[in-house]
Amino acid sequence: MEPLRAVVEIKVRDDGPYKVTGPVRLIDADGGVFDIPADRAIALCRCGQSREKPFCDATHKSTDFASCPRAARA
Ligand code: FES
Repeated sequence: MEPLRAVVEIKVRDDGPYKVTGPVRLIDADGGVFDIPADRAIALCRCGQSREKPFCDATHKSTDFASCPRAARA
């Protein structure tokens, strides 16, 4: 498996998932690779309630999950 060489953007969605854009390789604990089209962004569950983990299935919308972190600005 060769290393990926590109900038990957991970955006924290308010009260929702991490949206990951860029060429990524998502690997489970056993080393299995999730099949993700190279040109597709993915959303990773941040609330812990998805039935499709590690992906977001929008369940967060029906929970009280709330998180809106902001990066410190200089
Ligand atoms: S963040 Fe969407 S289901 Fe968890």
